[in-house]
Amino acid sequence: MTDGASNLLEIRNLSVTYGSGASAVPAVRGVDLTIGPGQKLGVAGESGCGKSTLALALLRLLPPTAKLTGEILLDGEDVRTMKWGRLRAVRWAGASIVFQGAMHSLNAVHRIGDQIAEPVLLHRHATPAAGRSRAAELLEQVGLPAARADAYPHELSGGQRQRVMIAMALACDPRLIVADEPTTALDVMIQAQILRLIERSVAEQDIGLLMISHDLAVLSDTCDRLAVMYAGRIVEEGPARQVYDAAEHPYGRALSAAFPRVGDLASRRAPRGLPGDPPDPSALPSGCTFHPRCPVALDICAREDQTLRPAGPGRSAACVRVGSAVPAQEQPL
Ligand SMILES: Nc1ncnc2c1ncn2[C@@H]1O[C@H](COP(=O)(O)OP(=O)(O)O)[C@@H](O)[C@H]1O
Ligand SMILES: [Mg+2]
Repeated sequence: MTDGASNLLEIRNLSVTYGSGASAVPAVRGVDLTIGPGQKLGVAGESGCGKSTLALALLRLLPPTAKLTGEILLDGEDVRTMKWGRLRAVRWAGASIVFQGAMHSLNAVHRIGDQIAEPVLLHRHATPAAGRSRAAELLEQVGLPAARADAYPHELSGGQRQRVMIAMALACDPRLIVADEPTTALDVMIQAQILRLIERSVAEQDIGLLMISHDLAVLSDTCDRLAVMYAGRIVEEGPARQVYDAAEHPYGRALSAAFPRVGDLASRRAPRGLPGDPPDPSALPSGCTFHPRCPVALDICAREDQTLRPAGPGRSAACVRVGSAVPAQEQPL
């Protein structure tokens, strides 16, 4: 496709394995993803599919037990070979991360204004006064009164804490924000507000977004493109609306049925669910890893691994039924 230098983020054939030998956990297996300037990509998948591992790999935040192969280019620069000083700077100004559960990421004993100002002081070499004024500006940008700068994390609601996390992520004008389940711990109304805030923040400053969620509806509401992840691989990618409304991969279809539209409160309170669980990465099924749960699996699916293949303009899917005729002798499993 395009060369690395013109993309904000380019992930090539990325694999991450925790541990080694018999207990090795291949959490991410050969992922390719690209985000251009200002683009918003959503990565969807159930718990355990490797989404957070992917996010952590981007900024080298994985534990030492994790072995990584492949390439991760941020603005054309390989994250894997960056020196520590450069990496620290890049973690704020290049790409910053918003995690689920802001309470654990904020320091309980420091006022939130100081925590927001900290990266500005460190990486911008700002004066304390300039740091405070930047913190006040960021608080207002995320919809909190500047006076809340003096509050401690426990004095804020979950939604307010997530706003603080977003303010921190925006502090050094990053070019990319990685948001891992940013609204999962929040109730439906607050979830919608935080999504609008993320959307507005990235649009105003033309920031790229990699948003991760198990909830396909949340992602399709916010992102331009969607990638569906299963058992450590991308099994479908394409324009957000198309993937949400008419996924090519049976797993994408199941996910979108399980997570109805964000505005549709009644059905969101009673999602249709998706039977079974994703496989344990250390004991993956043969063939297509989704075949044991797939409602339309054929004999061939238990034997042959499937990789991404073209599925229409700007779309791809890793399913035997996509793009070519299924051999006539194949029977439903
Ligand atoms: N530090 C770790 N050590 C060993 N295995 C891990 C570690 N972190 C995650 N895993 C395993 O890697 C797989 C993917 O996990 P994760 O990336 O957290 O998925 P997701 O974010 O999609 O829920 C899971 O099987 C999980 O148990
Ligand atoms: Mg996760």
